[in-house]
Amino acid sequence: MESAMKGNIKIFAGNCNRELAEKVCKHLGVKLGECEIIKFSNDNIKVRILESVRGKDVYIVQSSSPPVNEYIMELLILIDAIKHAKADNITAVLPYYPYVRSDKKDEPRISITARLIADLLETAGANRVMTMNLHSPQIAGFFRIPVDHLLAGRLLCKYYREWGIDNCVVVAPDAGSAKRAGHYAINLGLPLAILDKRRDDDSEKAVIHHVIGEVKGKRALIFDDEIATGGSILETVKALESLGVTEIQACCVHGVLSGKAVERLKGSSLSKLVVTDTVALPPEKNLPTMVVISVAELFAQAIAYSHEGTSMSGLFGPV
Ligand code: R5P
Repeated sequence: MESAMKGNIKIFAGNCNRELAEKVCKHLGVKLGECEIIKFSNDNIKVRILESVRGKDVYIVQSSSPPVNEYIMELLILIDAIKHAKADNITAVLPYYPYVRSDKKDEPRISITARLIADLLETAGANRVMTMNLHSPQIAGFFRIPVDHLLAGRLLCKYYREWGIDNCVVVAPDAGSAKRAGHYAINLGLPLAILDKRRDDDSEKAVIHHVIGEVKGKRALIFDDEIATGGSILETVKALESLGVTEIQACCVHGVLSGKAVERLKGSSLSKLVVTDTVALPPEKNLPTMVVISVAELFAQAIAYSHEGTSMSGLFGPV
């Protein structure tokens, strides 16, 4: 990858997940671009790019975690500053897309905020977007600019194949995740069980009503796109325990771990939690049972292919 990168490429990062941006740069053999992000006492943000980007192919890495709204503004202002500094191309690289779950109008008088974010990125000056495991793949269609939607499934399946999957069953924690979990099951050659999870309001309470599939006497691997409050996973764990599984592990792409998630997961019977590093994991979010798989190389490959104009289809599938 390195030799191809000596040319016109520049990578910058906001403050959300600089560690991942640094790792991406290492894989590409380039230095993270220098910029200054200043927050004034009135909460306004100022960005100054400290090196020339004129005529360059620029990638800005910014994920999403608290303070979510501040990090969105940081990204928009970075894009704006780089646009005004005459970069040729600007790609917003969002390993975890902000407001990703607000992707439909399923209640009266609510915003489709994931779409609003798409509009904001385009308005700020992004020419392309690169992201990973969107809550629903249709979000890519919210944009009029090209979107590269990467999937972490291949890395996660590789991990599980190496670790061993004897007597395992893949568990989808809700109907929404059934299709995705089905792909994991096919990829790993395992049976699938689907839980009927319902959320009656915006609270953290998710309730499991039914289970479709055989889980008794098996080791359960729960696959989900993200763990936020941990409510869904814990309800799934409770349901699986009552159905006589021998072991429960969970695997998700985005370890958001918001609210009381860490505390709740620590007290659960999960024997392992596999996450990626799309969302920064400070030490206080590190659980003893946690395995972190880095997506840095995959993003670096995607950036290299995008920069060179090489087909990326080999990087997308299958889950
Ligand atoms: C739901 O649609 C998602 O796939 C996840 O199950 C959900 O985002 C997890 O949220 P929480 O951990 O707060 O239950």
